[in-house]
Amino acid sequence: MDGRYVHIGRLLAGGFEDGEAAIRGWIYRTRSSGKLCFVTVRDSTGVLQVTVARGSVPDADFEGAKRALIESSVQCSGTVVKDERAPGGFELRAASFTVLGGSDNFPITEYRSEEHLLNYRHLWIRSQELTRIMKVKSSALAAAREWFSQNDFYEVTPPIITSNSCEGGSTLFELKYFGERAYLSQSAQLYLEAMMYSLERVFALTPSFRAEKSRTTRHLAEYWHLEGEEAFVGNQENMTLQEELVSAMVTGAARRNPEELRALGRDPSELLGMVPPFKRLSYGEAVKRLRDRGAAFEWGMDPGTNEERLLVEGEEKPVFIYNYPKEIKAFYMRENPDDPRTYLCADLLGPEGYGEIIGGSERETDGDRLVERLKAQGSPLEPYQWYLDLRRFGSVQHSGFGLGIERLLRWVCKQEHIRDTIPFPRTINRVYP
Ligand code: 4AD
Ligand code: MG
Repeated sequence: MDGRYVHIGRLLAGGFEDGEAAIRGWIYRTRSSGKLCFVTVRDSTGVLQVTVARGSVPDADFEGAKRALIESSVQCSGTVVKDERAPGGFELRAASFTVLGGSDNFPITEYRSEEHLLNYRHLWIRSQELTRIMKVKSSALAAAREWFSQNDFYEVTPPIITSNSCEGGSTLFELKYFGERAYLSQSAQLYLEAMMYSLERVFALTPSFRAEKSRTTRHLAEYWHLEGEEAFVGNQENMTLQEELVSAMVTGAARRNPEELRALGRDPSELLGMVPPFKRLSYGEAVKRLRDRGAAFEWGMDPGTNEERLLVEGEEKPVFIYNYPKEIKAFYMRENPDDPRTYLCADLLGPEGYGEIIGGSERETDGDRLVERLKAQGSPLEPYQWYLDLRRFGSVQHSGFGLGIERLLRWVCKQEHIRDTIPFPRTINRVYP
């Protein structure tokens, strides 16, 4: 911050008592009575009460403070005074108070419906709740990048506009591309596989798009996808990398943002306990567990929200379910040599019923099998020629995974709805603002 100004968070940490300080930010609350205005100012680090008294500031400053509505941007200076009654234990007694940008009547008041808050998302984004979540998200992403870098991964930048589907046609967003047909990426995986041949370990953080036609609390039409791809790695080692990554992200967030997490209702010490290993259940074991717990679940079925909740009951940490039946998974996975009905793959389920956070697998290296599966699912082969080429030039065992950032944040920040883990949610019925 510009040397003349101090962040409120630093000021509240102490050491400024009875000294002069200047802050800037936005009016969070304000009330005035006669010769005194009590203005609570927020910046990115905290809130501070500022007392503006007639006579202690130039008259124009006092009038400005009195008239300024909430969300006006302001800068002020004065003396820092310890005051137990003030939020945070300190207040600033103003010697100057300048309104930088005035504010109209703020459209978000005490009464607010969900719909109203979503319509005014561009303003509601300033709320303490969303600010906390965005801070935790930033920390989790920083921790992820740190982990990838320590584990010899290169960050790469795959395309978002693609000519083929990765996860099946039913959730594809189609777009006109100079007279041709193209799609918004569902996953960077196929491109990461191509880049793995030179860099061995790659990762990318990109938006992924899914035209999810159902309204749920865990699906977005646009989400942030953190994907890794690793040469010379099999399915079990792939899971080991994933649990280390998840652990680094959630413990990193807990260390950087304990206060924000507590305010969101998440005890940071729970997150600090998320250390490897995570339990691994085969799909077969999962079927048995579900049946033992009373579900009418048959081998071959795809576990839904309720089954995922039942599977992690009594578990404190995330749980891997590995080697699913082929019919319920994507075409690119490697067939399990010990049980050809299944693929070498795994989903990581969050605790407390938050559901799937990661989907990953070892990849099929046999080009002929890939062709057969693409044909079987009715996909045209031309758009996949480049991908099939990868099996013709130095194919090796490799694995990868995709982590839904908002799915992880929903769990970490204890959010009912996934939309509050992304600033501008895109869902089936919303693309504004
Ligand atoms: O399980 P998915 O579909 O797997 C893939 O896309 C692989 N190609 C990834 C890879 O191996 N590189 O999606 C991966 C993750 C899911 O586990 C989930 O966390 C998240 O992406 N996800 C969504 N998040 C929010 N909204 C949606 N509609 C999502 N669909 C998937
Ligand atoms: Mg999946």
